[in-house]
Amino acid sequence: MAKKVQLAPSILSADFGFLARAIELVGDAGARIIHFDVMDGHFVPNLTIGLPVLESIRKSTDLTIDVHLMITNPDEMAVRYVDAGADIVTVQYEACRHLNRTLNEIRNRGGRAGVALNPHSPVSLLEEVALVADLVLIMSVNPGFGGQHFIPSSLEKIRKTRRLLDSLKSEALIEVDGGINDENIGAVAEAGADILVAGSAVFGAEDPGERFRYLRSAAEKATG
Ligand code: DX5
Ligand code: ZN
Repeated sequence: MAKKVQLAPSILSADFGFLARAIELVGDAGARIIHFDVMDGHFVPNLTIGLPVLESIRKSTDLTIDVHLMITNPDEMAVRYVDAGADIVTVQYEACRHLNRTLNEIRNRGGRAGVALNPHSPVSLLEEVALVADLVLIMSVNPGFGGQHFIPSSLEKIRKTRRLLDSLKSEALIEVDGGINDENIGAVAEAGADILVAGSAVFGAEDPGERFRYLRSAAEKATG
């Protein structure tokens, strides 16, 4: 049976002054996963939140925290995010020197391990790591900012990823991140994504809870 598609609100677009409240709002609307974007001003030209904020929100929510590390040297830092309370830690393929080791370390520390591909990175890069990853994240924008436009060729890339994972008998989930909105969410889900990240489409709205429910049901309808 097909796995049910999940919608993960990205708190990057929430009001950081009221983060716990923003998480509670989408949790009450049915969210099970929160996407947590860490940017270091080096790997991407933007700076966001990190370990202390993760530790704080871990105390206030039981939701799955899905950390997306857009940082240089994730090999050194990834396990610290598991220790700080992340359930999933995803590193960028392009930033890792020792990806196999890093994914194994995340798992050994009790986390689920993800690998993210930037838009220019081909799906074939996943061949040697798919079996040590719990999740692959297809970036559908160039990372660094919320509210960008979805890159249309990402749909074909998701299909390719699905074919590759099936051929390797990998159980890894496919997550898609960037530019997901009312117009494209059905197509993204249909292409084979298991987890859809949405930041501005949820938290940019007046009523994030209502937006969450609307987008999730659009994704579910598309996948039947
Ligand atoms: C972008 C981040 C995304 C971002 C998505 O670099 O990785 O998670 O929050 O935001 P939207 O949904 O607004 O594109
Ligand atoms: Zn992200």
